[in-house]
Amino acid sequence: VHASNFLKCFYFRSNFSKPISQVIFTKNSPAYPSILQSSAQNLRFLTSSSPKPQYIVTPIHESHIQAAVVCSKEYGLQIRVRSGGHDYEGLSYVSDASFIIIDLANLRSITVDIENESAWVESGATLGELYYRIAEKSKVYGFPAGTCPTVGVGGHFSGGGFGTIFRKYGLAVDNIIDARIIDINGRVLDRKSMGEDLFWAIRGGGGASFGVILSWKIKLVSVPSTVTIFSIPKTLEQGAAKLLQKWQTISDKFHEDLFLHATIRVVNTSGQDAKKTVRVSFGAMFLGDVEKLLPLVEESFPELGLKQSDCRQMSWIESVLYFAGLSTREPFDVLLNRSQQLKIFLKAKSDYVKEPIPEIGLQGLWKILVEDEASLMILTPYGAKMSNISDSETPFPHRSGNIYKIQYLVSWEVDKESNKHISWIRRLYAYMKPYVSKSPRTAYFNYRDLDLGRNNKYGIGTSYAQACVWGFKYFKSNFKRLADIKTKTDPCNFFWSEQSIPLFP
Ligand code: FDA
Repeated sequence: VHASNFLKCFYFRSNFSKPISQVIFTKNSPAYPSILQSSAQNLRFLTSSSPKPQYIVTPIHESHIQAAVVCSKEYGLQIRVRSGGHDYEGLSYVSDASFIIIDLANLRSITVDIENESAWVESGATLGELYYRIAEKSKVYGFPAGTCPTVGVGGHFSGGGFGTIFRKYGLAVDNIIDARIIDINGRVLDRKSMGEDLFWAIRGGGGASFGVILSWKIKLVSVPSTVTIFSIPKTLEQGAAKLLQKWQTISDKFHEDLFLHATIRVVNTSGQDAKKTVRVSFGAMFLGDVEKLLPLVEESFPELGLKQSDCRQMSWIESVLYFAGLSTREPFDVLLNRSQQLKIFLKAKSDYVKEPIPEIGLQGLWKILVEDEASLMILTPYGAKMSNISDSETPFPHRSGNIYKIQYLVSWEVDKESNKHISWIRRLYAYMKPYVSKSPRTAYFNYRDLDLGRNNKYGIGTSYAQACVWGFKYFKSNFKRLADIKTKTDPCNFFWSEQSIPLFP
């Protein structure tokens, strides 16, 4: 690639209200390192040996994206689109090919229309910004998406998107009513002009395989003025295993207003017989007040021993702060702070559970967990609305028949520990095989895991059959329709990545 050719092409095709030096950054630009690192979440892909982009484009106008797409295609550069930078495998900011990053952080306006119960959200907005802008207009509307406020709308919505109210309202993708996308030819399309196939594909099949999503139109959902939260931690010594066994039989059957998940960590007990043990925290969000919540839990989960004093009532937006790990006393505008993002080395995996894990399975799990203190497992209950949506309604296929999803996570602070933690999480994943979904062993696309399989380098010669190895895990039989749509909309496989949807011959 002749750098000057790409730059000339980009300059020629863009509208500029600001100097070009504020929109495109070369490796020589003083701001290049800080922009590269800005939203990149996983330090595994920010080491000195990680591949770096030729250019970073930070569009402030749609024409900059159109120009970046058309000129990259013309001069053989790959693109990586970044919205919030939370991809677990860093696919929005690393690539083995010669590439550019289109970083959408400047395109993040949000227009909330309470009268029509909808909003337009640009892809570069974060979930925190979206929740803040909704709450600013109304206390009785919300949106069912993820709990981490710095996650970007662009990647999150195009891969599913679940949070604490998804048992009542479904995923983010179940509540999208329109979208604007820039296609392979640099055209801007909306739902009508892109057609229902492409509109289906980008609601769960990953945006990066199909174009650059500019914005989404979402349907707001109603939330009560008071919600209730609680968290009850129990170590193994305090009976956590028995409680978890019971939880597995009821968590997907609770009332749709109740989300009661379980997070599992390794902790050190104090006192004379101090030791490492496992702690399971049963945490909940209830769309209603404590008087309604207590009898619901007492009826189906009396063993938890929930008391009124364990519960806190608050507004929905305060619960957003709570689940983000922030103090509910902080001013809500902390949600607008994009730089509060936790940057760590991270590896994650996921599974779906269709039959409760037997006691013997849990006993083995505890032993593996205590081998890595930096581990975390999050068990998310399904059921309710999630069981009432068909597997093919969107590319996200994990609906009825799943009791809960597991996220396995391990994080650390120094690069030299990477191999140790990654080997450990792979061992844990291998151990869990008999206890989770089979044929295929399914996984959540937004918890990207390249261990499941990847396309050949640079998109050359990856057959559909080869890609089915990982594609069916994320999308089950929706993978075929995704490949069909990909073949029609991007026949030259320009929007390629390690786990982009493959083409049919
Ligand atoms: P990022 O910018 O890295 O993009 C992710 C992928 O989407 C990349 O392939 C990228 O190229 C593509 N992409 C991004 N913007 C695009 C656009 N405009 N057009 C086309 N393609 C685009 N999930 C969940 O469901 N619920 C949760 O509560 C959480 N919580 C959570 C916490 C933390 C700390 C992390 C790191 C991750 C999560 N996730 C999650 C997972 C999250 O949903 C997932 O990583 C999203 O893809 C992140 O979207 P970003 O835009 O931030 O990522």
